Amino acid sequence: MKSNTLLNPKDVTPSAQRWPWWPLLPLYPYGRRRTFFKEVISSQIWSFEQLQGLYYVAVPVRLTVVKVRDGLMLFNPLPPTQELLSELSILEKEYGPVLSIILPTASGLEHKISLPALSRAFPKAALWVCPGQWSFPMSLPLELLGIPRRRTKVLINDGFPHPESCIWFSLGPLDIGLGRFQEISCFHKATKSLLVTDALVAIEAQPPALFDLDPTPLLFHSRDKGDQILKDSLEARRKGWLRLVLFASFLKPAKLSIPPLINILKNSFKPGVRNIRAHFGLFPFVWADDWENSTKEIVGTKEPLISIAPVIQRLVFPRAKSSFIEWLDKIISLKGVRWLIPAHYSAPVKFTNRQVNNLKVRLDKSIWPREDGNWVFLGELDKSLLDRGIVPSEPMSHFKD
Ligand SMILES: [Fe+2]
Repeated sequence: MKSNTLLNPKDVTPSAQRWPWWPLLPLYPYGRRRTFFKEVISSQIWSFEQLQGLYYVAVPVRLTVVKVRDGLMLFNPLPPTQELLSELSILEKEYGPVLSIILPTASGLEHKISLPALSRAFPKAALWVCPGQWSFPMSLPLELLGIPRRRTKVLINDGFPHPESCIWFSLGPLDIGLGRFQEISCFHKATKSLLVTDALVAIEAQPPALFDLDPTPLLFHSRDKGDQILKDSLEARRKGWLRLVLFASFLKPAKLSIPPLINILKNSFKPGVRNIRAHFGLFPFVWADDWENSTKEIVGTKEPLISIAPVIQRLVFPRAKSSFIEWLDKIISLKGVRWLIPAHYSAPVKFTNRQVNNLKVRLDKSIWPREDGNWVFLGELDKSLLDRGIVPSEPMSHFKD
């Protein structure tokens, strides 16, 4: 499998990685988006990954390119830097033009923010979006979000693209008070791959190769105090990765505490950390000695561990476990699924009916919703939204599109 880039390395310059629209959603790494290319399934599926996150809590976000009849389908947009577009044009020369761009989620801002720019880069492609698109802080029509109405269709309501190559089905919709959660999954028949967005993640102990292009977020979080310089080693990258996964998964993991302001300031502005890369030594985190044990429920040691992303489980489905199980049953009914390709973390991951059944059994046995350990913060957040009447106490799935 070829990886990293399809381009001549001398063409991978900072200007080719520029993303001018970053202020729309100011996430790390801001105006420079390095792209990691990988052929996922030979001559059929390819992955482009970029980092996106807050305060160095950056996780890979994936655009998946799929071979369909007569050309290519782009599943989940990414910022179309010159580097990304040049790589896509190499695939187009070999496999045919980009025929469609799919935004399969109603809620995932990090996936929808780049749809307008990507659609302008492929003016002939059909756009397909998940029903119930909403924007934050207020709901705007598609045109005002920069999505051209003329060539945009709504999944389910207007049918589905590439029916000869793909089977489509929905997770949700669910009313989550603040908006709507829904994502449309795609089963690619030729490769028996299931493409999902945020519903499932598969996480392994080794950091994704994307971080080889810029390990800064890992090195930042590998430290124990703000006055330690950012020092690169395989162990530092692994440690930083596990902590970053805990942050991204649980927002405030159980083994993390925030030190008093005076301690944070005492360790900052020391020699070696007086630079923006080290955030001038400001490091408002203290990890308990046994923090690594708490990664076991979300990170696989020998192979990627497949689970429902904790934020989705605890804030979207806390009172709707049965809707999630129904979706898993739809996957089982496909008969013959082999691979899972989510929009974050590892892909492809082995995903046969055995793995789906194992996941179902794990969910059946588990306490739902979780309130303990790493789940305390998410549980409290859900409770406070519930107490204030912001989220509904019963799952609701009726929407007018
Ligand atoms: Fe996402």
